[in-house]
Amino acid sequence: MNDAAKDIWGELERLPRPPLRDLFAADPARVEQLVQRLEWPADGGMAGMLCDWSKTHLDDAHLAAFERLAQAMGFAERRRALLAGERVNASEGRAAEHLAQRGTGHEASVEEATALHQRMRLLVEAIHQGALGEVRHLIHIGIGGSALGPALAIDALARDLALVNVHIVSNIDGLALEAAFAACDPATTLIAVASKTFTTIETMTNAASALRWLGDNGVADPYGRVVALTAAPDKAVAWGVDETRVLPFPETVGGRYSLWSSIGFPVALALGWDEFAAMLAGARAVDEHFATSDGRANLPLRAAFADQLYARLRGCQTRAVFAYDERLRLFPAYLQQLEMESNGKPPVAGGPTAPITWGGVGTDAQHAVFQLLHQGTHLVPVDFIASIAPGDALDPAHHRILLANCFAQGAALMAGEISSDPVRAFVGNRPSTTFLLDDLDAAALGALTAFHEHRTFANAVLSGINPFDQFGVELGKRLAGQIGDVGNTFDPATLALIKHAGLA
Ligand code: F6P
Repeated sequence: MNDAAKDIWGELERLPRPPLRDLFAADPARVEQLVQRLEWPADGGMAGMLCDWSKTHLDDAHLAAFERLAQAMGFAERRRALLAGERVNASEGRAAEHLAQRGTGHEASVEEATALHQRMRLLVEAIHQGALGEVRHLIHIGIGGSALGPALAIDALARDLALVNVHIVSNIDGLALEAAFAACDPATTLIAVASKTFTTIETMTNAASALRWLGDNGVADPYGRVVALTAAPDKAVAWGVDETRVLPFPETVGGRYSLWSSIGFPVALALGWDEFAAMLAGARAVDEHFATSDGRANLPLRAAFADQLYARLRGCQTRAVFAYDERLRLFPAYLQQLEMESNGKPPVAGGPTAPITWGGVGTDAQHAVFQLLHQGTHLVPVDFIASIAPGDALDPAHHRILLANCFAQGAALMAGEISSDPVRAFVGNRPSTTFLLDDLDAAALGALTAFHEHRTFANAVLSGINPFDQFGVELGKRLAGQIGDVGNTFDPATLALIKHAGLA
């Protein structure tokens, strides 16, 4: 870490730490200053999301110091390099060009992405028009970044308007694939094999089993029912997929950032191209905001200021995300990979690694884990995410109660309650941030997801981390491949397990 950044962390450590109650009392304009709206185009107007940091411990002094920290850590330069398509992923010697997939950044990369999207669009529309016969189901096989984004988007957006029913299968546990088989008719099912590398053992094993299932169930040409989504098109062709059904994406798009590329194929197939394009447009509007705003006015950067405040200044080892919307129930799982695979590394600038991201859906989580948030000894910064417009068509009471609970939790965490009975006392002063969408549609999901990508990048810059590699997942993978090898050198405990399970 450079000396300037070290000094600023020193200053941040020494800043007064008034409780939230006092921050509100000291500044009547606190809500105005700490609630901002992020917008994107929608139906000839603008839609958006309120971002409310007023219930965090960010105040003017912290914001000003974090702005200087961002400067000292070269935020503007690292953002420029990201957008310019430079090799920001130093350990792997390549760029990180997921933004180009939605039309932002380096011109040549945007052009390439547009051409690849056009190829995907043609295939999607041909399938809708019957080029591959009747298609009622798609089994999308992929894992990690090749599954979590599509699973989130399909679950959020394809509930009542799916043109094709998508079943996402990631786990190597055969139960996952069997569940998809049970829901599909082989004669009207396509298989998408989604793998950046086209080598991942779970995906390739599942794909082979899915092809066998098609063949065993009367499909004459199983390979003719496969679409490959990959940055290794040659490998897909060598595996047996016809080149016309290989949808490539660039090597510079990281797995956990790949929803916007051909990995989004199931989203386009289930919802139609226009919805996929709307998701990209929502993300692009947030890219524009991120590329052109500075300091606290840059909302993903401001979110990272709050993240750093809790992770580094207050020692919080976790952060929790609760979506008060069934459609976003997979969002915490999506964020887990985005944040923990990106920033779960030792920061060169010292300080802690990324906090552990966890969470769930409200109101369910209130009746399960909120006890600890209110009275546990861990300080856990919480994000609440909700939509003003309901996703359901039932009595509006449902949505009113849902939102009322969401807002009440933030208020209760902050206010606490005094009681002479210790078991009934709530200390309060517990931080939360609320993200309140006007509505949850494709553009909003794109915007919300891009916001979190940029927040992750901003945290990486402030910590001095490369968010685009993931060497930490390699060792376990390598060792799994060695189990059963003659002469392997596992520890005695692991060898005993291998023997007991009959693996060797
Ligand atoms: O194991 C980690 C990882 O490399 C992720 O980063 C990636 O999203 C996932 O595996 C799947 O990889 P692939 O798309 O190459 O199959």
